[in-house]
Amino acid sequence: AQPVMYMEQMHIWSVFRYADVRTVLSDYARFSSQYGQSGVPDKSASAEARHGSSLITTDPPRHTKLRSLVNRAFTPRAVEALEPRIKEIAHELIDQIVERGARSLDGPHGSHGAPGHNSVHGTFDLVEDFSYPLPVIVIAELLGVPSSHRKQFKEWSDVVVASADNMIGGSNPDSGRVHQEMAEYFHHIMAERRQEPKDDLISALLAAEEDNEHLSEADILSFCWLLLVAGNETTTNLIGNAVRTLLEHPDQYAMLTEDRSLIPGALEETLRYRSPVQAMFRVTTEDVTLADRTIPAGERVIAWIGSANRDEERFAQADRFDITRNPNPHIAFGHGVHFCLGAPLARLEARVALETILDRLPNLSRINDDPLEPARGFIVHGVTSLPL
Ligand code: HEM
Repeated sequence: AQPVMYMEQMHIWSVFRYADVRTVLSDYARFSSQYGQSGVPDKSASAEARHGSSLITTDPPRHTKLRSLVNRAFTPRAVEALEPRIKEIAHELIDQIVERGARSLDGPHGSHGAPGHNSVHGTFDLVEDFSYPLPVIVIAELLGVPSSHRKQFKEWSDVVVASADNMIGGSNPDSGRVHQEMAEYFHHIMAERRQEPKDDLISALLAAEEDNEHLSEADILSFCWLLLVAGNETTTNLIGNAVRTLLEHPDQYAMLTEDRSLIPGALEETLRYRSPVQAMFRVTTEDVTLADRTIPAGERVIAWIGSANRDEERFAQADRFDITRNPNPHIAFGHGVHFCLGAPLARLEARVALETILDRLPNLSRINDDPLEPARGFIVHGVTSLPL
């Protein structure tokens, strides 16, 4: 009920309203992204030398410089060019699901459902079999990790994602080892690409230059790390949340089946209604008054994106899922200078995913009404498994 609230146990301020959340996300002078583990802004040069500077935890002017260097490599055009390959990967994943479904029908105990009920072709897990592997494969290929190293890459990606909650305490014992392994691996790839550049993101990052400045190896490594954390589980959850929410709204699912041009709108509405990233952190640089509460300098703040996207003051019937909602000014990808760098890629992957699912797997339904297991942590919103 309070739009700005101090949460005693966690020593953190929560901000819930749309207008205030936008302010916290975009007013970098008063709400810094340089939240060290302690919640104290970590601006030390030694921290930067150790870890490289990560886009998401720096403020302007350093952020502006890094972002424009990275933008040179991660352009909307480079992302668009990925569409045919993303389609191929999506179809390959569905081929595997369909093959397995056919096997389960042929098998000795294979027939699911009533005989003659031809819409039943076995079951699969949308998350494990489709929405989880898709973005991991896409990022591996984007970075130029050869397919022979895919398994190793997936293991790193799992550990990196699992340790992403560290900002709010706890640590993953594998995280240090994986950091080391990844550093060695990418060090090696960078050396190769320096000798012989390829058409991949690592080569483009090495080549990116502005005012005679390049990204350091540590910067590139920390960017690869960020792509794994920021780009995998989020996209997995966008796809899973979209399918789950459509199945809960059969009228909208039917509309979408009739008219594929509604897919982008359905994805925007999913981003608003079930935001994959529910919250982002900042730390105040001075005393700030928001909604009549004064947050002292040096305090940690959580901007609740998921709450802002359901603010009745901004969205009529905010709790209604409506794939034709227009305009839909949700802030699921953030707002201001840190606006999600991967938004065009996430939108492309999710669009291709939904198109492929609607084409290849018509008449999807839940196999039972069991409650779904939520994704771990309170920052991401999604389910760990969606059996269909
Ligand atoms: C930043 C959400 C997918 C890379 C952000 C921010 C949000 C967000 C809310 C802002 C953080 C802040 O203000 O502190 C999402 C959602 C996604 C998604 C909901 C999927 C549905 C991706 C993908 C990539 C990516 C696919 C890359 C492959 C990044 C990066 C930043 C970022 C690098 C930091 C940008 C900066 O600080 O300048 N994302 N993201 N994201 N995202 Fe995403």
